[in-house]
Amino acid sequence: MPEDGLPLIWVQPEPSPRPEAAREAPVPIQPQATQPQTAPAPQAPPPPRVPATRQPDLWERIGGREGLERVVDEFYARVEADPYLRPMFPEDMAPGRLKQAEFLEQWLGGEARYSMKYGHPRLRMRHFPFVIDQRAAGLWLRYMGEGLRAAGVGEREIAEILNGLGPLARHMINVDDDVPREPLGDARLQ
Ligand code: HEM
Repeated sequence: MPEDGLPLIWVQPEPSPRPEAAREAPVPIQPQATQPQTAPAPQAPPPPRVPATRQPDLWERIGGREGLERVVDEFYARVEADPYLRPMFPEDMAPGRLKQAEFLEQWLGGEARYSMKYGHPRLRMRHFPFVIDQRAAGLWLRYMGEGLRAAGVGEREIAEILNGLGPLARHMINVDDDVPREPLGDARLQ
């Protein structure tokens, strides 16, 4: 399981080990002729490693972006109405809602919009600023389940999704951990 507990498969595998000779003579990013010897070109940042779902068709089965939007609406309506969870969230929930939708899309096998913008999800680390206990994790999961159901997602799909999100939500519990609580904002993480 990776550091942030995401039960995911990486689409882009680690570079495979190259033979010794190839490692000693790296292939230039750009043609050497255009590069002065003394000032190597700045290397382009590597493309984000993009998590994909274990169920490639789950994204279609929940109705793609349209289906997910309904789920996120239902989920957020419940979070917003919950007196235990609501104070954890900022006054304006719209930016977080968008991030949640982007993350879930990528997690479910749609476009990797979240990692394109913010890099590696590192969800546990991104949740350090919020003190999450078992009750919060339980409520979060309950509302996700209710949201999926209210949005009309099929029972089989709900079970698959909650199977993945259950361990992830429990992994966010950090109430007893000595972790940095400073806000991370929109940080792009590696
Ligand atoms: C376990 C209980 C959880 C609680 C109480 C919780 C709470 C929060 C809060 C308060 C935020 C900040 C929202 C904002 O800035 O508007 C947030 C962000 C986020 N949460 Fe959770 N969360 C939980 C679990 C999860 C899980 C299981 C996932 C994965 C599906 C998740 C995905 C996200 C994402 C993607 C963001 C945006 C992170 C960023 O890029 O800043 N959360 N969460």
